[in-house]
Amino acid sequence: MYICLEGIDGSGKSSQSHLLEQWLKDAGYDVMRVFEPSKSAVGKLIRSMLQDSEATDKNFQRTLGLLFAADRMILMEKIRRAEYESSIIIADRSFYSSLVYQNDEEWIREINKHILKPDIVILLDINPETAIKRCEGKDHFENVEFLEKTRKKYMGLASKEKFYVINANNGINKVHDDIKKIIAPKLGMCI
Ligand code: TYD
Repeated sequence: MYICLEGIDGSGKSSQSHLLEQWLKDAGYDVMRVFEPSKSAVGKLIRSMLQDSEATDKNFQRTLGLLFAADRMILMEKIRRAEYESSIIIADRSFYSSLVYQNDEEWIREINKHILKPDIVILLDINPETAIKRCEGKDHFENVEFLEKTRKKYMGLASKEKFYVINANNGINKVHDDIKKIIAPKLGMCI
């Protein structure tokens, strides 16, 4: 099972993926946690480009889209192998992030057409002001307008692609419980 958490920066994806991993491991499952951009050489290149405002300019979104797709292709090999070994994969972001951030939907779908799509996508929906507060202290974060625009795109995609949407303004434990309520029945678990 390939589970993906999506959401704007500061929505709590990484804390929630850790909690989800621990809960599933405690229940006896093999779990592999991944994130995009990944740890591959392409992922590292993307992370360094994201620090450079020129490289994240709208004229470079196609280049970034290609790099994200390449990084994802590399990651897919790991995910396929883990799935084959019956592990549960928890991903912090996926192909849907490219649809939201890089625009040009048709082309992004085309260059990602061989990518494995997550079985379950959970969108952590958060108010941009709260998200910004959570990002304080990080070396790089977005402004409220950008987060608002991104949140709207996520919500549009959520209804089209049938994501589960969770209110991530709530406390960390409540959000974790809401995630468990989605995952438990898929695995035939009682909570
Ligand atoms: P992020 O999850 O914020 O990583 P971290 O919290 O470790 O810094 O991801 C970095 C940025 O990459 C984020 O702002 C969204 C962007 N991104 C894209 O633009 N397209 C994509 O396809 C992906 C996966 C991420």
